[in-house]
Amino acid sequence: MRLRNIPGAKDAIIESDYVVQDPVSNKGKWASVFPAAQPLHIEVGMGKGRFLMDLAKLHPEINYVGIEMYDSVLVRAIEKMEEREAAGERPQNLLFMRMDARILPEVFEKGEVAKIYLNFSDPWPKARHAKRRLTSREFLARYEQILAEDGVVEFKTDNRPLFEFSLEEIPEAGWHLMASTFDLHHNEEMVQGNVMTEYEEKFSSQGNPICKLIMKQHA
Ligand SMILES: C[S@@+](CC[C@H](N)C(=O)[O-])C[C@H]1O[C@@H](n2cnc3c(N)ncnc32)[C@H](O)[C@@H]1O
Repeated sequence: MRLRNIPGAKDAIIESDYVVQDPVSNKGKWASVFPAAQPLHIEVGMGKGRFLMDLAKLHPEINYVGIEMYDSVLVRAIEKMEEREAAGERPQNLLFMRMDARILPEVFEKGEVAKIYLNFSDPWPKARHAKRRLTSREFLARYEQILAEDGVVEFKTDNRPLFEFSLEEIPEAGWHLMASTFDLHHNEEMVQGNVMTEYEEKFSSQGNPICKLIMKQHA
């Protein structure tokens, strides 16, 4: 997702209390960034952020960080948070960062992250761009550098080739597949507690089945 350049987006991001301005400076100190020291879950490529806003409300016992690399998209998430705040909702357990996920190991110490969500990640269909896919072995190696030993990655997409690629990368990277489905919304077990993302709502309403997998580093 890359929206048109939005005038003022950079300033809105710098001025927002919802945004961690210097992610790298918090490495090893994430337990003190939020009011409550509790497990940290992140979404990489959060887009407009509704998934995390809903999760943060449902799970006040978890801290959440949403990561997005484009100003023009992040500013939309900030606007949505401001709308929720105006309606009386001010989550204490959710923050955003504008950064490229390639630098995750510079931002989190090993063990600081308990769960990573990847939702409707960009497919990068050309073979020569495979390394940019957020479920590539290169990204799994980055996640290993920040996840707790028993940490998990949950991935949803409607893009079947990207999903099949991801299933193949798991053993190649020495990871372990815990669960998977090619049709989440008709899988009674895996759909329990499912929180829809903006893309998930759009694509499932067009009739596209949603694929989901859960993976971890060790068997
Ligand atoms: C297709 S959108 C999905 C948005 C949201 N997760 C959803 O399901 O509605 C993917 C988002 O991931 C972001 N993204 C892609 N690669 C990224 C990276 N390396 N680091 C941070 N964000 C990234 C894109 O800018 C885009 O906003």
